Amino acid sequence: MPRQQGSRVDRILRPVHRWVWGDFDRRVRKLIAFAKVEGDGGRDILRAAEVTPDPLLRRLYLEHAIDELRHADLFRQRGAALLQLRSTRSKALFDTSPLPGGHGLDDLSIEGEPDHRLLAFLHVAEKAAAGRFAIYREVVGDDPSTRAIFEEILRDEVFHMNYTYSQLTRILPKSYRRQVWQARASRLWKRYLRVAAVVAGAMSAVILTIIYFVVLGPFAWLAKRAQRREPVGWASAAANRDESPTSQY
Ligand SMILES: [Fe+2]
Ligand SMILES: [Fe+2]
Repeated sequence: MPRQQGSRVDRILRPVHRWVWGDFDRRVRKLIAFAKVEGDGGRDILRAAEVTPDPLLRRLYLEHAIDELRHADLFRQRGAALLQLRSTRSKALFDTSPLPGGHGLDDLSIEGEPDHRLLAFLHVAEKAAAGRFAIYREVVGDDPSTRAIFEEILRDEVFHMNYTYSQLTRILPKSYRRQVWQARASRLWKRYLRVAAVVAGAMSAVILTIIYFVVLGPFAWLAKRAQRREPVGWASAAANRDESPTSQY
C-alpha cells in the first residue's frame, strides 16, 4: 500500500494543521466533530446499502458503513478520554466549523443517486480524507493514542478510496473518469459555497459595524437636533386645511 502523503494543499497547510491540533481544546473539538461526520456518513452509506440493486455493492457498502460507524466511536471515545484528562477552557466546545471534518461525507446524499454517482463522490471524499488523515497523524505525534487512531482509520480510508474506484470502473467502464471529474467539480463547488458563506458573513459583520459607528452616530445627532426644533406639546392645525380630521385619508 502506498504511504499516504496528503494533497499538495494539505501539505502546504501543514503548519495550520499543526497549529489547530497543537491546542488541547481545539483537538477535543476536532475529534468530536469528526465523530459526528463519520457517524452521519456511516448511516448514509448504510442507507445506500439498503437501496442499491447490486448485491456486490450492497456487501461493500455494508462493510464501509460499519467502518465509518466504528471510526465515529473511536473519535468519540478519544475525545471523551481527553476531556476526562482535563476540562476544556473554551465554552464553544460544540461550535461547528465551516470546513469539513476531514472526511467530507457531510455532503453525501443517497436518495435518488445512482450507484455510479455515489461511488464517484465516495471515491473523491475518501481520497481527500485519506490525505488529510495522513497529515493529522503526523501533527499529533505528541499524542500516541490519537496518532494510533488516525493510523488505524487511515488504513480503512485507503481501502474505501480503492474499492469505490474499482467498483466505479466495473459498473461504468467507459466513462468512469468523467464521473470522477464531475464529483470533484461538485465537491469543489460545494466547498466554494461554504467558504463564500463564511466570508460573506464576516464581511457583513464588518460592514454593519462600520455603518453602526460611521452612519448611525451622525444620524442620531441630526435627529436630536431636529427634535429640539420641534415645539413642545400640542400644535395648532393650519387654518387652511380642508380635509376632515375624522377622514381615514
Ligand atoms: Fe471514516
Ligand atoms: Fe471512509
